[in-house]
Amino acid sequence: MKIRYQSDQRDIRWADVSRLIKAVGWGERSPEDLEAAFKKSSFVRFAYIGDELVGTGRTVDDGVYYGWIVDLAILPEYQGKGIGSEILKELESDLKPYISTMLTAAPGKGGFYEKLGWLKQSAAYIFPRSERQKKDFTEQAD
Ligand SMILES: CC(C)(COP(=O)(O)OP(=O)(O)OC[C@H]1O[C@@H](n2cnc3c(N)ncnc32)[C@H](O)[C@@H]1OP(=O)(O)O)[C@@H](O)C(=O)NCCC(=O)NCCS
Repeated sequence: MKIRYQSDQRDIRWADVSRLIKAVGWGERSPEDLEAAFKKSSFVRFAYIGDELVGTGRTVDDGVYYGWIVDLAILPEYQGKGIGSEILKELESDLKPYISTMLTAAPGKGGFYEKLGWLKQSAAYIFPRSERQKKDFTEQAD
């Protein structure tokens, strides 16, 4: 299984990115909105097997000091094959010059990041925009 990793946004079919996001359970995001959002990222990755988009990930960053890794998503049928680790390692490496490299783990995914050397923060805060976020990302849920 030959996996090709692309680090620019040339010839991306944004409808495929939208399908990938939906396939991992993150709901509907339009191809147009995804393209606009990805265009703001300094670093992106797209993983292909043949012509099929099987994984993605990108940074949200200010170009100098702070960088987050977001939208790390692998098509369910291709999970567990090392693709997520590879994209994460590459994006983490891209952010090496920044002073701070962060991410928010989806519920149940902390172990994946810890395996790759990430440490759980003790002082991260989120302003909850929904009850779902409150439940998924804080200890305040009742
Ligand atoms: C989480 C995700 C990105 C991992 O990518 P992946 O390609 O499936 O992971 P890999 O094959 O690179 O796995 C690397 C290692 O992490 C482990 N791992 C994967 N998911 C894990 C989890 N939830 N908890 C603990 N370990 C996990 C794997 O078993 C593997 O271990 P090994 O090297 O000892 O075999 C992928 O499963 C995914 O897209 N999930 C849905 C979307 C999502 O939640 N993304 C994360 C947003 S924060």
